[in-house]
Amino acid sequence: MTDLAALPAWDALTAHAATLRGVHLRTLFAEDPDRFARLSFAFGPLLADYSKNRITAETLGLLSELAAARNVESARAAMFAGQRINRTENRAVLHTALRNRDASSVQPLDGTDVMPEVRAVRDRLKAFSEKVRAGAWTGATGAPIRHVVNIGIGGSHLGPMAVAAALEDYRRADISLDFVSNPDRAQIDDVLKRLDPAATLFIIASKTFTTVETMANAHLAKDWIVARLGAGAVPKHFAAISTNVDAAVTFGLSPDAVFPMWDWVGGRYSVWSAIGLPLIIGCGYEVFDQLLAGAEAMDRHFETAPLEQNLPAILALIGVWNIDHLGMAATAILPYDHRLRLFPAHVQQMDMESNGKNVTMDGAAVGAGTGPIVFGGGGSDSQHSFFQSLHQGPRIVPCDFIIAARGRGANDKSRDLLMANALAQTEALMKGRTAAEVTGAAADLVPHKVFTGNRPTTTLLIDEVSAYTTGMLIALYEHKVFVQGVIWGINSFDQWGVELGKELAKSLEPAVSGGPHMEKALETRDSSTAGLVAVYLKAKETP
Ligand code: F6P
Repeated sequence: MTDLAALPAWDALTAHAATLRGVHLRTLFAEDPDRFARLSFAFGPLLADYSKNRITAETLGLLSELAAARNVESARAAMFAGQRINRTENRAVLHTALRNRDASSVQPLDGTDVMPEVRAVRDRLKAFSEKVRAGAWTGATGAPIRHVVNIGIGGSHLGPMAVAAALEDYRRADISLDFVSNPDRAQIDDVLKRLDPAATLFIIASKTFTTVETMANAHLAKDWIVARLGAGAVPKHFAAISTNVDAAVTFGLSPDAVFPMWDWVGGRYSVWSAIGLPLIIGCGYEVFDQLLAGAEAMDRHFETAPLEQNLPAILALIGVWNIDHLGMAATAILPYDHRLRLFPAHVQQMDMESNGKNVTMDGAAVGAGTGPIVFGGGGSDSQHSFFQSLHQGPRIVPCDFIIAARGRGANDKSRDLLMANALAQTEALMKGRTAAEVTGAAADLVPHKVFTGNRPTTTLLIDEVSAYTTGMLIALYEHKVFVQGVIWGINSFDQWGVELGKELAKSLEPAVSGGPHMEKALETRDSSTAGLVAVYLKAKETP
């Protein structure tokens, strides 16, 4: 793979960035009254305004040349065709098949169509969730299920949890939904003390069924059920989603309540699979289907639109420009909508676990900044915490503002407040305030009241937070992350970076538990790690 820096398009972007360095967004807006119209994109119920980025028509032209030089179109075709583009794990990447709702469509993988299996699992999910919702799948005592607890972590937790929050208005009020991920038992204890065991269904969500945090919580939940309802109750109170169906059945689950997933779905791309079960129980299959429909619409757009009119590609290329040519290493995701408050955490995993890498597919150094540091939070709350730094901090952080035009309540005036605040922030970040514009301040205060502005933002305006728009938004970010991975030449679909910590934790367990193998486990440790273990062992013995 050609080095990025050796590409003429990369050089041209570097030179172009130098010419734009002294140009303020205020000037770009002043010079072009049509800037919003030219640099925004409407797609169904979603409008993306990227005009407040430090770009010109020339920037977009050069970025298109970069995309052509990196063969983004053929990489896109390879993903949709089910090729094994996750080369380090020799897997295809087919989360798009999970939201393929066309009854006649075929999705080949190594010559076999995966769609019949996908449809069969959808049918089983629908039937199972309908039984639970109708009270036909009961607990061991015959009580209907009134509490669902999802036990998972990472992609088996963040996606469904973010979507559950987004779809709160569609959820049945008489079935509570909780998400447990932390192996600190305080979390599961806090949940369990509110629940009636006879009416509780646990969903163990784990692609591998080996993740230690998830399995620790699954065993705590099982012990809780066994202690209250007896060992025979387990099959009525647990469901599971995994590629490792045998392990789930061995755990004690009824095969009827085990739903498969496939190695061609990455954990952080799996909310569309059976991992969506808590949503389906909570909201009903039709709502889940609308989530798939929104994502499917984004898939068709991404798959077929030329890159210059392709929203995920445009946003991806602007991201690469910000990171690599303007030197902005982070990005903030700021939903001005309570329902989308958990969206930043989901995008954080999706982006940072996918593109937080420094070698290309070929194992060479990327030679550029890759995936950004992603953080964020609900807009209004964040405004009163970290926005100070976004406005006046020395590091410039491009921000995505996400706003819904309508709330669920009729005549919801709170929307106007949210909208005014979100737009005010993008305006302030763009324009800033010069010393000459500071009025009524003592001279020594003027520097404190100056804002440099020229800080990039993108605004995503949706009509309302529905299952459809939630699906669209998530798929938009997924494809954006994909395009960026292709530009950097990295594999966005593995996650070797989390393995070393897992291995070391395993080898440290004998030391922190103070067992007979403690000394061996500490033998090769550095003085910091060994010292902390010693202090920990002493502290845990102290009443
Ligand atoms: O350790 C990271 C990771 O593998 C994520 O990619 C994944 O979403 C999470 O752990 C949970 O994995 P599993 O679904 O197999 O329990």
